[in-house]
Amino acid sequence: MNTQVKCTINNNATGYQTFTAGSFSFDRCEYFAYITCPTGVHMMPIDNFLKALMRDIAWGFFYGTVAFDDVFGTTNHYGNVDLYLGSQHKEWTSAKRDFKENFKSDVLMDIFKLMMSDWTIAGFDPFAAPQETGTAWGPKNGNEDRLIERKREVAKRMVGIPGDAPLRTDEAGYPVNRAFLDVDQTQPVVEAEPEFEGELHAFNLFGYLSRSDVTWNPSVVSVVRQSLFCPTTEEFILPIDHGNDRVEWFVQFSDEISWDIKDGKTSRPLATVTMRAGDIAAMPGDIRHQGMSPKRSMLLVWENGSPEIMEMIKAGTVPMVPVTF
Ligand code: PHB
Ligand code: FE
Repeated sequence: MNTQVKCTINNNATGYQTFTAGSFSFDRCEYFAYITCPTGVHMMPIDNFLKALMRDIAWGFFYGTVAFDDVFGTTNHYGNVDLYLGSQHKEWTSAKRDFKENFKSDVLMDIFKLMMSDWTIAGFDPFAAPQETGTAWGPKNGNEDRLIERKREVAKRMVGIPGDAPLRTDEAGYPVNRAFLDVDQTQPVVEAEPEFEGELHAFNLFGYLSRSDVTWNPSVVSVVRQSLFCPTTEEFILPIDHGNDRVEWFVQFSDEISWDIKDGKTSRPLATVTMRAGDIAAMPGDIRHQGMSPKRSMLLVWENGSPEIMEMIKAGTVPMVPVTF
């Protein structure tokens, strides 16, 4: 039996390392992550923690807030990042238990990557759907550095253009997912008028998505100025609650996702939005959202990567809705 849970569960008994970042420390045991700061300790199931940590790493702290749950998360200030406990939770703030610390992004990223590597055991793929991975539970046992170091696919102009992000194929190690065996795999034929050869391009986006080996991990498939098309395949639950800092659009390509929408600052529940194939929604800039996809589905996330937006966010002038009537 343990009486001093936090210290003795780790290192000795289970073989996991403890990590510190400023006044925060992080421990894991066989089932949980423990986040400790001067005002309190917060526990999370280790599978949820690692799945969220994986997204925060892969997306470079993303846009706005990556909430691991209602209590703990990061807020990106682009170059520096806040680590917070309770700051976006009404009960933690009214009890004055909330705590926030700012880090240079690369410093915190290095610690997060070391933690991700040490705490992910053999067989657990934090990007995979629950039915396509082993579990995260138990004592330290090997690692999955090969899986957690996968790079997010980011096109410079568009997937499939020579020299740009490649198409996914069987030969490249991307078989069609079990849920998308009926998706047409033929590629479009482009017949350019004389003088326009080499300037036109098209690819089969549904075919591309049907071969995704990850879930809840948007790739950038096309870039037109600051307009980023970031489609992704989804199954089960988005492992983070995303606190937007700008408007983003969702286009549901297939199947269905149900989104829990909460107030960005207090986590107060606001709405449930169920999106079926063909539905389009603009997600406001001041909410947080978490999606649930009962079957593997295809979703287009349309992001605005404009550098001016960073300045508007800092100045507090960025609009929270795409249009005001
Ligand atoms: C989002 O927060 O907008 C988001 C993130 C990852 C996804 C889908 C949506 O896979
Ligand atoms: Fe979002």
